Amino acid sequence: MAAAKLIELRVNGRTHALAAPDGALLLDVLREMLGLTGTKQGCDGGECGACTVLIDGQPRLACLTLAAGVQGRAIETIESLAPQGRLSALQRAFHEKLGAQCGFCTPGMVMAAEALLRDKPQPSEADVREALAGNLCRCTGYVKIIEAVLGAAAETAGACAGAGKSGCACAAVAETSKEGA
Ligand code: FES
Ligand code: FES
Repeated sequence: MAAAKLIELRVNGRTHALAAPDGALLLDVLREMLGLTGTKQGCDGGECGACTVLIDGQPRLACLTLAAGVQGRAIETIESLAPQGRLSALQRAFHEKLGAQCGFCTPGMVMAAEALLRDKPQPSEADVREALAGNLCRCTGYVKIIEAVLGAAAETAGACAGAGKSGCACAAVAETSKEGA
C-alpha cells in the first residue's frame, strides 16, 4: 500500500487537510476522499475531458494531475457552480438547449466552457469549438452543446443591462460614450 502524505487542497473555496496516498491523482482525491463525484472518470488517460476541473481558472484534466502538485492553487469543480443547488446560467443553458443527454461528459464540458466564458464572455462559435475540442461527447453530436454555450453567453450579455457585468462588451461602449460626453 502506498504511504500516505498530508496535503492541503483548496477546493471550491474551502481548504481540506487530507492524508492522501503518495502519487494520488486529483481526480481520485476529489471523488473518493472529498465526495465530489460531479467530476467524472471517463478514459482515465487524458483523452476524454470528462474529468475537467479549473485550477486557478484554467481547465485541467484531474486524471493527469497529481493532487500534491496543486496545493495552494484554487481548484474548482462542477459543484462550485451551483452552491445552493441553483444552476448557473451556463448549466441552465445546457439543460434548456438539450446540451446534455446521458450527462456523463457534461460536467467536464461545463467547466471547460466556464473557463472560456470568464476569459471571453462573448465568444464566437469557433472559440467555443476550440475551447471544447478536448472534451468528447458520445451522445449529442456537439451542436446542442455549442448552442448552449453561445446561449449562456447571450443571456449573460442581456443580463448585463449596461453595467458591464462579466466583462460584457457594453462596458467598453459605456466608457466610450462617457469619454465622448
Ligand atoms: S478521465 Fe480524464 S481525460 Fe478522460
Ligand atoms: S451527453 Fe452523453 S456523453 Fe455527452
